[in-house]
Amino acid sequence: MGKIIGLTYDSKEAWPIQPGQTLDANAEFDPAATIDEIVSALESGGHQVKKIGGARELLAQISNLGVDIVFNVAEGLSGRNRESQVPILLEMHGIPYTGSDALTLGATLDKSVAKKIFVADEIPTAKFFIASEGDDLKELNTIGFPLFVKPCSEGTSKGISLLSRVEDYEGLRRQVDLISECYHQPSLVEQFIKGTEFTVVVLGNETPEAMPVVQYKINDKLELLDDFYTFDRVAAESVKYICPAEIPNNFAKKLQGLAVKVYKSVGCRDLGRVDFRVDEKGNPFVLEINPLPCLAKKDAFGRTANALGIPFEKLVLRVLNEGLRRVNMDRQEAGV
Ligand SMILES: Nc1ncnc2c1ncn2[C@@H]1O[C@H](COP(=O)(O)OP(=O)(O)OP(=O)(O)O)[C@@H](O)[C@H]1O
Ligand SMILES: [Mg+2]
Repeated sequence: MGKIIGLTYDSKEAWPIQPGQTLDANAEFDPAATIDEIVSALESGGHQVKKIGGARELLAQISNLGVDIVFNVAEGLSGRNRESQVPILLEMHGIPYTGSDALTLGATLDKSVAKKIFVADEIPTAKFFIASEGDDLKELNTIGFPLFVKPCSEGTSKGISLLSRVEDYEGLRRQVDLISECYHQPSLVEQFIKGTEFTVVVLGNETPEAMPVVQYKINDKLELLDDFYTFDRVAAESVKYICPAEIPNNFAKKLQGLAVKVYKSVGCRDLGRVDFRVDEKGNPFVLEINPLPCLAKKDAFGRTANALGIPFEKLVLRVLNEGLRRVNMDRQEAGV
């Protein structure tokens, strides 16, 4: 039987870039086209969709929401708890929702927190330190150069440009100060991993399942070496997604196994996407896990559906069904 599904999201159209903001200020939010794709996918499963909006709209309607479950893709506006806001509100009101809970979303949005969990669970991740404006960078840097500097708690390559790979203290200082000034947060400074790049979608709960590996191609190159993904490159669509990645089976299995380990390590639910860099010797390093990955057709999620040989809509419905099963709503439906 069809359900009434609330959709929580933050749209680019609702948050246009304001004068004085960086060009990537609303990068995390979904364009109307992606939201429409998600709505159609949910409707194709015989469900009725009620578009709610973000945490503020949810708060205004929450005592009278009238939905069976919320399908959550809301990124939140600012701060490292931004993704946790919708789940917290829903949890307080006992409304079931798809995806990870507030704790997992917070711990993974701040990549430095996630990396501490990875280290504790013996998951390979690039060496790192946290730096803020005014810190003594020479004292903090026990890694050497080249380094990669990114905001601690952003996604969609916000704050990442060709200047993010730094070779000396001058570059390091420049990027740390820029992130502090423009993104109002500390920098995560990592050992630069020279090599190739992959991402793996994971679905499920008791026995999470890794989907086919996606490989990133930048400017038609798979051997990225010193190259990497930047906000401008994503916006210009010079990043392509190859799925399934053309890599030996045993290496694909290794990445998939690691992706599931990461997913379990941070307590992900229903869906997640794990990003990797692999060095020239073939050693994988986990960059991050995205419990709220972009669900656009043209992104890694949509490519994964193609590789599985199923329509995009079916993969979106699979996420919903994982959530329904987790909260026992599929059984109610079947009358069990
Ligand atoms: N340590 C590193 N070494 C080399 N390249 C890196 C490193 N960290 C990040 N990158 C490059 O920067 C990109 C973005 O990094 P990361 O995935 O950590 O940030 P994000 O903004 O959360 O990403 P996403 O766009 O997946 O949401 C990576 O896809 C990779 O190309
Ligand atoms: Mg990433």
